[in-house]
Amino acid sequence: MRDRPGNYVRDLQIRLTMLGTVVASLGVGVAASVMFVYDVITLPIYTILQKPWVRIKKAKKIRAKEVPGSVCRYRNYDDPIGFQVTMKREKLDTVEKIVRYAVKQHGDKKGFGTRAILSEENETQPNGKVFKKFVMGDYQWTSYVQFAARADAFGRALLAEGVKPGGRVCIFAETRQEWLEAAVGAFTQNVTVVTLYATLGEDAVAHGINETEVAHVITTHSLMPKVKTILNNCSKVSHVIYMEDQLEKTDTSGVKSGVKVIPFADMLKKGHDAKFEAHPPTSDDIAIIMYTSGSTGTPKGVMVSHYNMVSTMTGFAVALVPSPEDVYLGYLPLAHVLELMAELCAVMFGVPIGYSSPLTLMDKSSKIKRGCQGDCSVLRPTLMAAVPMILDRVAQGIKEQMHSAGRLAQGLFNWFVMYRNWWRRRGFSTPILHSLVFSRIAGLLGGRVRAMVSGGAPLSEVTHDLIRSCIGCSVMQGYGLTETTSCASLMDEYDVAVGRVGHPVSCCDVQLSDWEEGGYKVTDQPHPRGEIVVGDSQEKTKEEFFESDGRRWFRTGDIGLIYPNGTIKIVDRKKDLVKLQAGEYVSLGRVETILSTSPFVDNMFVYGESSKNFVVAVVVANAKQLGLLAKEVLGSEAEGKSHEQLCKEERLEEEVQKRLVKQARHGRLEKAEIPARVALTSVSWSPDNNLVTAAYKLKRKELSNYYKDDLERLYK
Ligand SMILES: *[C@@H]1O[C@H](CO)[C@@H](O)[C@H](O)[C@H]1NC(C)=O
Ligand SMILES: *[C@@H]1O[C@H](CO)[C@@H](O)[C@H](O)[C@H]1NC(C)=O
Ligand SMILES: *[C@@H]1O[C@H](CO)[C@@H](O)[C@H](O)[C@H]1NC(C)=O
Ligand SMILES: *[C@@H]1O[C@H](CO)[C@@H](O)[C@H](O)[C@H]1NC(C)=O
Ligand SMILES: *[C@@H]1O[C@H](CO)[C@@H](O)[C@H](O)[C@H]1NC(C)=O
Repeated sequence: MRDRPGNYVRDLQIRLTMLGTVVASLGVGVAASVMFVYDVITLPIYTILQKPWVRIKKAKKIRAKEVPGSVCRYRNYDDPIGFQVTMKREKLDTVEKIVRYAVKQHGDKKGFGTRAILSEENETQPNGKVFKKFVMGDYQWTSYVQFAARADAFGRALLAEGVKPGGRVCIFAETRQEWLEAAVGAFTQNVTVVTLYATLGEDAVAHGINETEVAHVITTHSLMPKVKTILNNCSKVSHVIYMEDQLEKTDTSGVKSGVKVIPFADMLKKGHDAKFEAHPPTSDDIAIIMYTSGSTGTPKGVMVSHYNMVSTMTGFAVALVPSPEDVYLGYLPLAHVLELMAELCAVMFGVPIGYSSPLTLMDKSSKIKRGCQGDCSVLRPTLMAAVPMILDRVAQGIKEQMHSAGRLAQGLFNWFVMYRNWWRRRGFSTPILHSLVFSRIAGLLGGRVRAMVSGGAPLSEVTHDLIRSCIGCSVMQGYGLTETTSCASLMDEYDVAVGRVGHPVSCCDVQLSDWEEGGYKVTDQPHPRGEIVVGDSQEKTKEEFFESDGRRWFRTGDIGLIYPNGTIKIVDRKKDLVKLQAGEYVSLGRVETILSTSPFVDNMFVYGESSKNFVVAVVVANAKQLGLLAKEVLGSEAEGKSHEQLCKEERLEEEVQKRLVKQARHGRLEKAEIPARVALTSVSWSPDNNLVTAAYKLKRKELSNYYKDDLERLYK
């Protein structure tokens, strides 16, 4: 070979890479030895200070037992703890009573915070585009007493505007303090709240409003344009109440004639002077009709009674012992039961709630002006709820940063993560390592987060471990459905497992039942497996519920496995299962969860046809990673190509598929489960283009229609 500069550079690169690897391993080796010495010296001190046996004992506890005489029915037999006893004694059986009790307990303490938006500025990006960014001030706090006064006033104003006690109103709004005030206000008058996700498509919203026949729609400034269109299709709506924007005046022109438009503040004023008595609900009354956008077809409304809400809260709140320093960050959609339950628990315990939104959450969030602080940095929350999609993004960000910091840093970092997890499982925390290595990452969320609840979809094990060790908090995965009011099982603070969804909470039983077709049986060894059936003692008239020995049961469609200590693992989903030609079953959801941790993947959809013997996938490619890969694979050909054009490159598709194979081996997928061909797409999936639900679950039918041509090509 001729001696060209190119060859020389490549050769040098290879040598440097090898050298890098050696240095990195040496570096990790040195660090490991130093840490070993350090461990030996500090172990006795840590043992005395941290009393790991306490945590170990709590972690080893049996969490649920099989109900005697049943087949695979598990129940939580924990004795009721302090607040559960209180709730029983004080007969707190509706959300309204709980809020009243909380107000009595916490009075003038600060309870609800909203951040002031001072101004909006134009910020020019490096690429020349101009984005509008907020200049934001501090949190402004409302006390519990003030909150209750506002909620009561809102409830009375509803009656003044023609809502009947026992009637319904609809809240179609983003998460903010007024959302909760409006909902609690409605409860004081026994008014049922119909909740709709702010991200729901117009048709779905119209359907929800239509089906529940509400006349009063409560919305926000930013959703007004959407509401105006929807009104044309909802003949029954007579009133629109909107929560104002801090900066802009709301444009109310163009609202269908005959519909009264009222600002939220005017409602409070009106309610303040109105003389209406409260009509508190009873525990059997319906608190909420929640529209979940099912992964197929139109969304369906699920009725949730006050009893359901309260019993879920009692089960839910056991997972964590609140402390006086706690602050809760509220930013997930309140139309999601998980967030609503978490916020109501925070109210019950007197934990202040600071409101935020995905656009202003962190310093780097899209609406925060460069150099300004995001909500997390200002609020410094200790508790929050999360959905796997958000945690995956955080994890992705951490990995990218480590990747760019070089091989040595990456090697050390991975080792520190392992080290930390190793000690955590043995009941130790690692405060010095935290402040030296992880505090900057934890600082992204304000630096004080001590616990998160994750729900809504399965959380990948890699992400779970990474978040737990980098942020230094417990990440409690829960499992449930709106039909069971969000929570059937939940991990507690001391549970250090990954890939499990905790144990049944005190308000419901979890039972497994055989699913022959999928090959899951309660007699499976070493642990019973089967469809998860959740027991609910409430009246329900839905067909999904069936009666058995006086209790009502709900078939979830999810396949679970129960360990002897009462911990549940979700192993499959009935709907997500395809049977390939050779008779193998592939769980599409599981494959997606595992492969989504690849840096190339922003989102993905695995598809299997039962007439074929392999599965294929459509990947929403990560623009940054794909760009890097393109440089590597295509060389100079990649120059000047847009992300969209790169996604059409077959060579890149093949390359990404190879990377996914590696990821799949890592996640121990079977051969038939690994997508044999992959198509790349630059379209990001959102509820707006109807490819995912408002909770960002894949809509398989819509996706396979949308990518019909691609799927056919992949199967050729
Ligand atoms: C930002 O730019 C828009 C036009 O793009 C202009 O109307 C607006 O006044 C600008 N705002 C500020 C604060 O400069
Ligand atoms: C609350 O309203 C429902 C109708 O939505 C009604 O059946 C129930 O009796 C009311 N409860 C009370 C305590 O008035
Ligand atoms: C709403 O209901 C009316 C009849 O009650 C029906 O004609 C209309 O098509 C419905 N609209 C939607 C969007 O469901
Ligand atoms: C109602 O919605 C449907 C579907 O979006 C649309 O085709 C129809 O024109 C709407 N009806 C009215 C009265 O706006
Ligand atoms: C329960 O047992 C399983 C399997 O042995 C284990 O992985 C898990 O960590 C245990 N959970 C708890 C909370 O002890």
